[in-house]
Amino acid sequence: DDNAATVKIGFSQGMNTDDWRRQLNKSMVIEASLHPEVQLEIKDANNNVQQQVKDIEKFIDRGVDVIIVSPIEAKPLTAVVEKSIKKGIPVIVVDRKIDSEGYTAYIGADNIEVGRIAAKYIVSNSTVNGKIIEITGLKTSSPAYERGLGFSQILKQHPQVKLIATINGNWESGSVKVQLKKLLQNDPDIEFIFAQNDRMALGAWETAKELGLENKIKFVGVDALSTQNGGIELVKKGVLQATILYPTGGNEALRLALKIYNKEPITKNNLLNTIVIDKINAEIIENQLDKVDQQQTVIKQQLDAISVQEQEYASQHSLVRLLTLF
Ligand code: FRU
Repeated sequence: DDNAATVKIGFSQGMNTDDWRRQLNKSMVIEASLHPEVQLEIKDANNNVQQQVKDIEKFIDRGVDVIIVSPIEAKPLTAVVEKSIKKGIPVIVVDRKIDSEGYTAYIGADNIEVGRIAAKYIVSNSTVNGKIIEITGLKTSSPAYERGLGFSQILKQHPQVKLIATINGNWESGSVKVQLKKLLQNDPDIEFIFAQNDRMALGAWETAKELGLENKIKFVGVDALSTQNGGIELVKKGVLQATILYPTGGNEALRLALKIYNKEPITKNNLLNTIVIDKINAEIIENQLDKVDQQQTVIKQQLDAISVQEQEYASQHSLVRLLTLF
């Protein structure tokens, strides 16, 4: 259905291999289904930067109305985003940014703030020696840089805590283990490990466990998914001391795309709220997130049911029309 009322939105997703990305997609799909005029297509780049550039090129060539992108890495995606803008197709970047301000709008949490919150939490909960190891995400993706920046800004103001080492991970748990094991064998006297997401925080905990250090070290992560093995569950189990909520912003991104399409005024930098979650509030936050999730699922089921009814109605209607011809 290619009629004029259709709003074509292309979402270039970086990968589909973790629950955070899957939740982002799901919330965007549900929001899209609330707007019958929207035709949303998600292309998954499989964590391959060249593929992501091609995916966006395809959206441009097809003349979609708005592009949404979560850039795997900042630099290699910059030119194609700017090209899209030049051709008159607005681009919303979600979660990760490009290397310039040449996009229409950003939506996501403030990653510098995420890093600051993690550091403040560690500063105010340090009771032993204040020795910290930081594990970063993929350095060429903007949240890794920004979380690291915010984290170090706060640590600098508090000499009672000290960053002993930084491990450059790639957002996945496998990327931290070898390096961390070496570090901990060398110096087991670490009070906190801050990993820039929960998957790497879990990897760090598993490594510490191999060395019998998992109860001595406190682990802080980011994301706070309320899924199986997600950050909230890890906090409730006592694996993580805390996690910083990193909302996916799927619904919000879709709504922003529609605003842009409808030429409504928007702000360029759209920051989603974040919060630190530890044992004290894990249960409450989990309940709230689950409630939103359940509501989304119910909405989706209702919409699916309506569209079945509409199809039945449409076929009955054309049958009636056909009959009146005779
Ligand atoms: C998901 C993820 C999250 C992290 C975000 C950073 O793919 O790795 O865990 O918070 O990307 O962009």
